[in-house]
Amino acid sequence: MKVSGFIWLLLWFTFVTAGCWGQTLRQEAERDGILVSTAARLPPLSEPAYAATLAREFNMLEPEDAMKWAALRPDERTFDFREADALVRFAVEHKMKVRGHCLTWGRNNPDWLMQGHFTSNQLSRLLHEHITRVMEHYSGQVFAWDVVNEALEEKGTVRGSIWYDQPGIGFAGQGTAHIEQAFRWAHEADPKALLFYNEAEGEWMNRKSDAIYAMLKDFKQRGVPIDGVGLQMHIPFLEADTYGIAANIARLAALGLQVNITELDVSLPLDSNSMVRAEDLLRQAEIYRAIVRACLNSSNCTAIQTWGFTDKYSWIGSHSRGTRGQALPFDRIYRSKPAYRAVLDELSAGRSQSR
Ligand code: XIL
Repeated sequence: MKVSGFIWLLLWFTFVTAGCWGQTLRQEAERDGILVSTAARLPPLSEPAYAATLAREFNMLEPEDAMKWAALRPDERTFDFREADALVRFAVEHKMKVRGHCLTWGRNNPDWLMQGHFTSNQLSRLLHEHITRVMEHYSGQVFAWDVVNEALEEKGTVRGSIWYDQPGIGFAGQGTAHIEQAFRWAHEADPKALLFYNEAEGEWMNRKSDAIYAMLKDFKQRGVPIDGVGLQMHIPFLEADTYGIAANIARLAALGLQVNITELDVSLPLDSNSMVRAEDLLRQAEIYRAIVRACLNSSNCTAIQTWGFTDKYSWIGSHSRGTRGQALPFDRIYRSKPAYRAVLDELSAGRSQSR
């Protein structure tokens, strides 16, 4: 048998056996109209196990890096959509939705932008053009966008960035006005797209989530076009205030906003051999379970997305300089972990289950 024949047989076997051994995350989520999603990378799509797991388990994907400025904008005049387009094609082929990430962020930007000494007028023109071109390119394919990512500090103040005050797009020192401007441009570019503000460390009740809430309350009162909030949910210390998460989602619901859990991972401490403790895998599963449950219990929580799905491809290793890892529901060889089982169980129980 030729190698490609063998690979297809393997793929077929994986799909068929997944069906026999039980439901997938995707099948369980679809019964309740929930989106179950993951960040995806292009290079590993050529790995049969990566592609098969992605298509089998998830009904949505979000390019992990391929829609950021650094990927889409090799220089000031060029838009390079090839990598992001390939991920969108995969999603379309497998009947998955696509969430876009992210149009405005102080990080993951190209050097020509960061070191270009642009004036505020020039930056305003560049950001407006970027939002318009990218959203028009993906109109009808990307149904929801993180329009602005991580624009607030932990203490709730506005974060310094090239878009805010370095030198900014013309609203330095004016609070959240530059964020509002990005949302207005995004709505003009694709009036049908759902527009999200995405943030880290504001998942439960704290100074940052209070500031997000205050900003969005103001936006809603003044008719700024915004549909929802992405709560990233990178959990670094095997602790999550899940009552606080539920309360936070509820107060955002009262503003008429959707919530998406956008970057869920629960990293574990690694020993000197890069191993984790068995009990930590179980604690990790319980955190996944409680977060999925908090979402399912809130009718405005419409998507649960992990930041990657296999420990083989996770940002946590480099982010923690090798001290933490194994944060995702599948291990490095695509075997499901207790965390996977916990998510599957909760999705099977569905929205109606109250715990
Ligand atoms: C990370 C990616 O996972 C890495 O591959 C990349 O090198 C850096 O960015 N918050 C976000 C994501 O909104 O875009 C970040 O993704 C992780 C933190």
